[in-house]
Amino acid sequence: MTEKIYIFDTTLRDGEQSPGASMNLEEKIQIAEVLADLKVDIIEAGFPIASNGDFEAVSEISKNIKGPTIAGLARAKLADIERAWEAVKFSDSPRIHTFIATSPIHMKYKLMKSENEVLEAIKQTVTFARNLCPNIEWSCEDGGRSNLDFLYQCIELAIECGATTINIPDTVGYTLPTEFGSIFKSVKNNVPNIDKAILSTHTHNDLGLAVANSIAAIQEGARQVECTINGLGERAGNAALEEIVMALKVKKDLIPFHTDIKTQSITKASRLVSSITGFSVQPNKAIVGANAFAHEAGIHQDGMLKNAETYEIMTPETVGLTESSLVLGKHSGKHAFSEKLKELGYELGDNALMELFGRFKDLADRKKEIFDEDLIALVGDRAASYNEKIKFVNLNVNAGSLEKHQAKLTILIEDKSKDIETDGNGPVDATFNAIKLLTNTNYKLKLYQVHAITAGTDAQGEVTVRLEDDQLTSQAKGSDPDIIVASAKAYINALNKLIYKKTRSKNEQISALKIEGV
Ligand code: KIV
Ligand code: ZN
Repeated sequence: MTEKIYIFDTTLRDGEQSPGASMNLEEKIQIAEVLADLKVDIIEAGFPIASNGDFEAVSEISKNIKGPTIAGLARAKLADIERAWEAVKFSDSPRIHTFIATSPIHMKYKLMKSENEVLEAIKQTVTFARNLCPNIEWSCEDGGRSNLDFLYQCIELAIECGATTINIPDTVGYTLPTEFGSIFKSVKNNVPNIDKAILSTHTHNDLGLAVANSIAAIQEGARQVECTINGLGERAGNAALEEIVMALKVKKDLIPFHTDIKTQSITKASRLVSSITGFSVQPNKAIVGANAFAHEAGIHQDGMLKNAETYEIMTPETVGLTESSLVLGKHSGKHAFSEKLKELGYELGDNALMELFGRFKDLADRKKEIFDEDLIALVGDRAASYNEKIKFVNLNVNAGSLEKHQAKLTILIEDKSKDIETDGNGPVDATFNAIKLLTNTNYKLKLYQVHAITAGTDAQGEVTVRLEDDQLTSQAKGSDPDIIVASAKAYINALNKLIYKKTRSKNEQISALKIEGV
């Protein structure tokens, strides 16, 4: 048996720090359930001091999700650590993850602390955390740009004070794999008590090297990898969980380690994170992109028919990707519908199932053939519209080359029906104008993107909308056979998210934390 690599998923914390990727409580719990099914070892559920919403999400996840260790993030401040403990303490296996920056540039300009002051903070905070919780992770933020001799001192001290995992992040995605690997090698060789802790890697993708750096760290002694589904995360994102796991699996001859990840659940996790956050996966993304297992060139197709291994280093089934199939029609019953959802990896409660079945029937009335992808979009739409202030009801548009473009829209705002008729420069513009007038909002539209979910002219359109206001952004998707309706749904989903984010930010100074560059 090979040595195990622990998978630490931070989709709900570092992933959520992606501009526009905020999630509500219900969505976070849904993702945590899928992560538990995927068999990740540790879920970093959030940053409890950041907001009451974050605190609630971490505590609900630690109460309800069984299997993985549940971690909460805390700066090197006693109040942060106490708050993190209050949120994770319900878990059967809680962890406090505390960090402080150790690079010269962060210490001088951000923390305004000397090396001795940082050492003092480590001593005080790690000791405090260890007195609350037996499982403590300590991270040296911007470890990739830290002075090695100082790093050794910090790590030795953190372990002495009770840290059980030492995480070295390449916070700004600056290092090369050889460089990052050699930091781990040096730490292993120069920190006398290093065998008392698990070494962990945490990488960002600014130079497109996050996964390569994680693998280099594993080769030099890291036994925990921090990563996110679809590589979601700050700026260019974090290391992608699915890429690391599959690299370890496919290259086990050269990297002789294993993970406990149930790889067949990877596709389901990727789709759920994409539909909840509104972040589409690029078609050519490794492992989970729509083209990752598609073979276009004739010579490749010929080879594949003769022997799949000619062009395929792993099978689509290993990551839970099955052939897109014609599934249900308008005569399908609830049982068949629920069985199909289970097959796609969605286990819903009775109420959610009934609601979704109603939406499915509406869709089946308008679209003859319903594919797996249509059902996945339906689940995503329901997740996005759950418990939201503004709800789409109906839309009629006048469009065409000779027509005046007009939209007649009805929505519910906190369950009160509102309607309006307005015009615009094209049907989408008229629709967005109607939403803005009815909701009395006028946020910047930063992204509007349309694509077809399946092939055929009757395919559902999937629209992505990103809105921005006051440095806060939100991104969401909407789907419908009518792309103008899909556009309205996507805009409303993004608007609901932005309103949620603005309220949270106002009440709880989330922006102040962001400025600290966490
Ligand atoms: O990138 C980073 O340094 C982090 C730490 C908080 C672990 O996300
Ligand atoms: Zn990070």
